[in-house]
Amino acid sequence: MKSLWLDTYEVPSAASDEFVPGAHYDTVVAGAGLTGLTTAVLLARAGQRVAVLEARSVGAATTGNTTAKLSLLQGTTLSQIHRHQSDKVLRAYVDGNREGQQWLIRYLEQRGVPFQRRAAYTYATTSKGASALRKELQAAHIAGLHVNWTRDTGLPYKVSGAITMPDQVQFHPMEVLGALVTELRERGGTLVEGVRITGAGLRSPLTVRTSEGSVRADRLVLATGIPVLDRGGYFAKLSPSRSYALTYRVPGAPESIPSGMYITADSPGRTLRTVPVDGEELLLVGGNDHVVGRSASPQAAVDDLEEWTRRHFPGAQRTHAWAAQDYRSVNLVPFIGALPRGGGNIYVATGYNKWGMSNAVAASIALSAEILGGSVPWAETLGRRLTSPSDVLSALKLNASVGMHMSKDWTGAELSELPDAPPAEGEGIVGREKGRPVGVSTVDGATCKVSAVCSHMHGVLHWNDAERSWDCPLHGSRFAADGTLLEGPAVKDLPRVGT
Ligand SMILES: Cc1cc2nc3c(=O)[nH]c(=O)nc-3n(C[C@H](O)[C@H](O)[C@H](O)COP(=O)(O)OP(=O)(O)OC[C@H]3O[C@@H](n4cnc5c(N)ncnc54)[C@H](O)[C@@H]3O)c2cc1C
Ligand code: FES
Repeated sequence: MKSLWLDTYEVPSAASDEFVPGAHYDTVVAGAGLTGLTTAVLLARAGQRVAVLEARSVGAATTGNTTAKLSLLQGTTLSQIHRHQSDKVLRAYVDGNREGQQWLIRYLEQRGVPFQRRAAYTYATTSKGASALRKELQAAHIAGLHVNWTRDTGLPYKVSGAITMPDQVQFHPMEVLGALVTELRERGGTLVEGVRITGAGLRSPLTVRTSEGSVRADRLVLATGIPVLDRGGYFAKLSPSRSYALTYRVPGAPESIPSGMYITADSPGRTLRTVPVDGEELLLVGGNDHVVGRSASPQAAVDDLEEWTRRHFPGAQRTHAWAAQDYRSVNLVPFIGALPRGGGNIYVATGYNKWGMSNAVAASIALSAEILGGSVPWAETLGRRLTSPSDVLSALKLNASVGMHMSKDWTGAELSELPDAPPAEGEGIVGREKGRPVGVSTVDGATCKVSAVCSHMHGVLHWNDAERSWDCPLHGSRFAADGTLLEGPAVKDLPRVGT
């Protein structure tokens, strides 16, 4: 499953710089998504020697697989934050997102990256959804946003209500990463793909350990989606949520497809936007999110989205289908700043809850300011936010569900024998071999046997029948059929079994 973004854009001069073991940088940034590249550019502008080390390739994880709506109207996020947090924290969250949004719009204008201005809508089709909209409208007004009630959405189905904000933005996320890579190189920064950070010391200069050897850095920024290295225990404070996106050629487009950017307040989630590609206007439909590794059949989620789209947009022909995950903190406010137990030299930015286009840039502004000795008032307010009793309850629930999966999956894996015959094409199965859970799958005719125990903290992996991967139901690490690590907090591949 390759996203339209990764399929239609090649990052300029994508060839990696050379990895130089022992090199010394002012700052090493782990991860070449929107957070890592924006942070690196801001530090390089200030004259720092910066290296971005990317485990896979630019945009490979979430940014290259997002839906790229740059909006301050973010579903029902504001009312959910306000349920746990004060007016002051809510306003700080919006201030950060506004700054991130405005920075990115200016950047796109300066670098000549195309984008489209669109009205954003959060809509409901149920009375429960409509009541959530009223709360969102109230929270938006407290935060000083000009959001209005409307029934006029342009959607081809009945809604029970909608709120809207004009003049938001959508773009092609890989074009944005391409512009950042170009500027990073113009400013003498280094970008190395295929190098995974696996550990770091505490004392400055930090020894940063990678899959290719060590380098030294005065500062390390973990812009890896969910932070790797486990210090700070973010894996226990974040819920990894995976969802699906499909693009379509619709007869009669662009008139036959709604022109705004939409997200529903109801469940299951739905998001829509248009995508201009080579003079054509495609329709993007997304949704059906679930906790990573906990859906019995991700393929069923894709099929359901497909059926929904064909019902509402007759004759729609699919061009691409893909999936991605993002991380949600218990109170929906991202974590941005120095890592606790990082000796003051390691920084993280995570927990954007599928609103990373503005949050990632906001985080980059805050992190680069902190590294360069400055500060940003909204980030200080977010950093000082208190943990409310309902946050504690949500964290307990999150970890109880992790514990429940840990014991249920180990018991299940220990009880089942692996079948003698290899699985059918596209299928994977977990069973016991020599007392350990082992996963066997067949993909493109190749049968692979790997340890089915996650290399992060021993969760038993589940087969993802849509993406043909092994997904961990505990904290969201994912591995290819042959055991190669794809994403999540793990830093090691799965060992192959019997080869
Ligand atoms: C389906 C979906 C739709 C979304 N739609 C929207 C939207 O419409 N609007 C919006 O605002 N937000 C949206 N988001 C959220 C947004 O896409 C993300 O929050 C954002 O892209 C995160 O960027 P990032 O740079 O922090 O992470 P990533 O893009 O995931 O980058 C992290 C990088 O780190 C690399 N990495 C990982 N581990 C290591 C390591 N050990 N060493 C080196 N490199 C490593 C990864 O390979 C990856 O390239 C959506 C998210 C999803 C899942
Ligand atoms: S991701 Fe933590 S145990 Fe698998």
